This record gives sequence, C-alpha cells and structure tokens, in this order.
Amino acid sequence: MEEKLCIELIERAIAIRDAAYTPYSKFKVGASLVTDDGKFYDGCNIENAAYSPSNCAERTAFFKAVSEGNYNFKAIAIVGGSEKEGIKDYCPPCGVCRQVMAEFCDKEKFLIILAKSKNDYQIFKLKEILPYGFTKNDMEK
Ligand code: THU
Repeated sequence: MEEKLCIELIERAIAIRDAAYTPYSKFKVGASLVTDDGKFYDGCNIENAAYSPSNCAERTAFFKAVSEGNYNFKAIAIVGGSEKEGIKDYCPPCGVCRQVMAEFCDKEKFLIILAKSKNDYQIFKLKEILPYGFTKNDMEK
C-alpha cells in the first residue's frame, strides 16, 4: 500500500489512542480504519467495571464504520501500550477482533498495520493473522 496512507493511518491511531477509556487495564489502544473509498474511522478501547462489556479499539473503529453503512475496507493501523510506558511494542489484534475483520474484509487484500511509530511498522494480510478462520462462506457449504 502507499506509504503516505500507511503513515496517515498510524498517526490517526496514535492520536485516537489518547481517548482510550482504560481505568482497569491501563493499557491504551488506538486503531484507524480506512474504507476502499478513502473514509477514515478511528477507534479506541473502552473498558467497563463488569469487564466483559469492554470493547477493543479495532472493533470500535469497525462498528463506527459499519453503523454508517460502510462494508468495504482497505486497511487498519493499530497501536497500543500501557499508560505508563506508552507505545513500546507492536500490538496485535485479539482473536475476537480478527473474527470481526473476517466478517467484513477480504482475507487476501485487507491489510493490518502494527506500528510502534510512523517509522517503525509491520504490515500483514488478514489471511496471515487469521488462517483457516470461519466465515459466512463456510455456512454455504
Ligand atoms: N485491546 C485492544 O483494544 N485491542 C487489542 O488489539 C488488544 C487489546 C484492549 C482490550 C483491553 O481494554 C486492553 O486492551 C487490555 O487487554
């Protein structure tokens, strides 16, 4: 993918990370999702005292986009780290978020950018991080 778009996604993910509501884990995550037609949806993790209602940054971004009628996605950038240490390492998406990506994205095309900074990132295809996942196609067999 174009480097300019990649850097924009990372910068947006870093910016939205500040909005993370994380009184329990104190681990803040930011994600920026871009549609095929160039619309951005940014998300952060939002925790809850009952724990299980918590939502990851990636799903916040996806649910914002889908709730506005978007179903075609190009890429997502993800950054994460503790409140204390900041972004020190790559933050791979959890299994539930990978499954949400699989619902809406082409596993051969959709890109996941894991970043430590705008100069330090790795790009994966969805099929690399969710091999042999269950999708709607499996229900048609
Ligand atoms: N979290 C995310 O938002 N995305 C990830 O990719 C990994 C984990 C959140 C969930 C929880 O609020 C905190 O990080 C610690 O697990």
